[in-house]
Amino acid sequence: MKGYDFFRPMTELDLDWVLSIEQQAYDFPWSRRGFEQALDDGLAYVFCDAQQHKLGYACFLTVLDEVHLLNFCVAPKCQRQGIGRVALQALQKHFCAANYQIMLLEVRVSNAAIGLYESLGFVQNGIRPNYYAAWDYQDGELVKVREDALLMSCALKTD
Ligand SMILES: CC(C)(COP(=O)(O)OP(=O)(O)OC[C@H]1O[C@@H](n2cnc3c(N)ncnc32)[C@H](O)[C@@H]1OP(=O)(O)O)[C@@H](O)C(=O)NCCC(=O)NCCS
Repeated sequence: MKGYDFFRPMTELDLDWVLSIEQQAYDFPWSRRGFEQALDDGLAYVFCDAQQHKLGYACFLTVLDEVHLLNFCVAPKCQRQGIGRVALQALQKHFCAANYQIMLLEVRVSNAAIGLYESLGFVQNGIRPNYYAAWDYQDGELVKVREDALLMSCALKTD
């Protein structure tokens, strides 16, 4: 079984793989342009195992001493094996060491990742109503609806 070993900066060479995982993992995936923007901002990372196989990725935006988690994904075939947990813990340590004070994120209210975030010290700060596009079955038909976002944050410093 592959296990997380390290994260490294995402590069242009990763984009085909990242886009294929993005399309498998999300109903509303980011476009190539979204990842190119993340690369320009220099805050995109790929998680790898000891053999340098890619397992997942994360993209961030920083504002002053805040770091916003914009995209966090583990390849579907590698999910539920503890990779997301150790990768996000490593990134929390990385940004803490770089003197960022707080990590912020938005997550769909239906996403099981909320439990993972809470176990890593994130607290719920509020709701952004109708923030995401979503699919729902209504009268047997798949229709596009809106879904609320849960705002979460985690202090990176305890002092
Ligand atoms: C969210 C995500 C990155 C977590 O990565 P992961 O490697 O699967 O997570 P881990 O195995 O380290 O941790 C799993 C914990 O997260 C929660 N969790 C994650 N996915 C879950 C699921 N599908 N069902 C139930 N719990 C889930 C559980 O608390 C779980 O702990 P447990 O296995 O002890 O029950 C991954 O599931 C993913 O890429 N999902 C699709 C993209 C996404 O929604 N990203 C988050 C956007 S905010």
